[in-house]
Amino acid sequence: MNGARISRAVSEARLWQRHVEMGAIGATARGGVNRLALTREDAAAQRKLAQWAELRGYSVSRDEIGNVYVRRAGTDAEAAPVLTGSHLDSQPTGGKYDGAYGVLAGFEVLEALDDAGIATRRPVEAVAWMNEEGSRYIPGAMGSGVLAGAFTLASALARTDSDGVTVAAALAEVERSTPLPRRSLSGLRPFAYVEAHIEQGPLLEAHGASIGVVTGIQGIRRFVVEIDGEEAHAGTTPRASRRDAMATAVALISALQAEAADPGDILRFTVGRMRVSPNSPNTIPGHVDFTIDLRHPDADLLQSFGAAIHDMAARVAARHNCTAAVQNVSDVKPVRFPDDMIALIREATEAEGAKYLSFPSGAGHDAMYLNRLCPTGMVFVPCLRGVSHNEAESATPADLAAGTRVLARAIVELANRR
Ligand code: GLV
Ligand code: MN
Ligand code: MN
Repeated sequence: MNGARISRAVSEARLWQRHVEMGAIGATARGGVNRLALTREDAAAQRKLAQWAELRGYSVSRDEIGNVYVRRAGTDAEAAPVLTGSHLDSQPTGGKYDGAYGVLAGFEVLEALDDAGIATRRPVEAVAWMNEEGSRYIPGAMGSGVLAGAFTLASALARTDSDGVTVAAALAEVERSTPLPRRSLSGLRPFAYVEAHIEQGPLLEAHGASIGVVTGIQGIRRFVVEIDGEEAHAGTTPRASRRDAMATAVALISALQAEAADPGDILRFTVGRMRVSPNSPNTIPGHVDFTIDLRHPDADLLQSFGAAIHDMAARVAARHNCTAAVQNVSDVKPVRFPDDMIALIREATEAEGAKYLSFPSGAGHDAMYLNRLCPTGMVFVPCLRGVSHNEAESATPADLAAGTRVLARAIVELANRR
């Protein structure tokens, strides 16, 4: 009964308006957003969320790593909360829905609970996890990872961006510009977590489905490869005496691309960032570093491909009289959500009468770490042509609302469990 009531209370127009307002923060000329983690734009997005929360009388807090929580009280103040949410940070040329949707859908659930006059036993909290994207600061899903104990608070705070600014310094600036009451990471024991997100891939659209019942998340490993050679004059240095870090990087990436060729198209291999030093047209580069993002549902395959990266880097660098250092900077094993959480999302979808598809996520999400702490599930909605990590990312108000109704049904059910 609560399910039908909360579903009816979800407002497509209000949810859309919130996306419009959030999408204006860090808006880019091409229709996307640039809200890198812990920047002024990220802080402004948090401020907007906190203002909305204040109007509704929800309490807002921030923990030591910068996760922001909007809490609607339950009838049992001692009961562990049900969490929902995602992230407000974006890629440098990101879309308006990647992450923001999960936070705004979670907030819409809180408002719909109020509007439907539903009291839940457990508190329900909409969370904006810090630095999910891993673009300014590696590793991604940093805030949820610290909460789950995947890495320590101290190691996360010490990470630096490409200008040498630490997470600690950037977070202190956010706390200064956008102060919120402090909450302790150590006191937080969630009862369950459900995250809504755009699919960021083509499956829902291809199948004409409006909901994805997510079964898990494929494994993700990130590497940083550093190649060192020797700077020299581009016009005078004979090939035999060159120690060209760029030629080495190109040869290594080509070899790895060939190694990653997968007839089934399951293995994902991406070099997304490369830095060249001194980055001058007529100096042979003495240093190149680049990232590798590697993904697959099979943990063993990810391990063996990781070993191949180390081997090939050493061999290719030696052939070019250079050196290569490979660092594995993050390693998230494939995740399978608990069957009863998958069933809960599926039943909520069936109650909505929506056409759905069940599949694992190709993208990483904070849910992969929350799953270590509490039963976790995810709901996907389609995005146009599956395009994401792109300013052209697009989703319809109707699909965003349909996913929120499924989320709302799941949350209300969990929040009344003993
Ligand atoms: C998050 O955006 C990811 O890298 O999958
Ligand atoms: Mn995301
Ligand atoms: Mn993303």
